[in-house]
Amino acid sequence: MTEKPITDSPMTEKPSRQKPSRRSFLKLVAVTGAAATLGTRGAAQTASSPAKSGDLLVYQDGPRKGQVVKVADLKEGTAVWAQAVDPATKKPRDAVKSGVVIVRLKPSEIKASSQKNAVNGVVAYSDICTHQGCQAKELGSLGQGKGNIICTCHGSIYDPRDNATVLGGPAPRRLPALPLKTDAAGELVAAGEFTGKVGPK
Ligand code: FES
Repeated sequence: MTEKPITDSPMTEKPSRQKPSRRSFLKLVAVTGAAATLGTRGAAQTASSPAKSGDLLVYQDGPRKGQVVKVADLKEGTAVWAQAVDPATKKPRDAVKSGVVIVRLKPSEIKASSQKNAVNGVVAYSDICTHQGCQAKELGSLGQGKGNIICTCHGSIYDPRDNATVLGGPAPRRLPALPLKTDAAGELVAAGEFTGKVGPK
């Protein structure tokens, strides 16, 4: 139920089921330009990293909110939104920047650039747009947006098959990937930190 079906329009904003506080924060970032302060600690994330190896990926919202995402829950061509949480506390290391969009792809579609971070056809990226910090909350179905992650604030499009490279819109750089692995129960677990800085410069 938290799977986001492919949308009819890559540019149509859908109602969010996320917590108002998170959405409000993201809106504020987009409007005020405060996004410039996000991720200023750089790509080499260590103590303050919003995700670390071993973190569990749990649903952000919906009836499974807080439950760990399993590969078996995911259908090819769909996406779910999750948060990386510390396995000890079950809480995200950062209320905003620990968010990820998880996409299940046909394994044959995954480009070499994404292979090393994928597991069983599943890839995960930061869901914070690198333009002005809105949440990239859609997976498109038409035209250039087909099968791609879309930020509806200003239309940035990222290719989940190719390490979230930018296909369109004003985003200056790709979404950082979160390397994945699975545990014995088939649950998704972070295999490392984000591969780059989360959010805009
Ligand atoms: S914040 Fe501008 S396209 Fe995402």
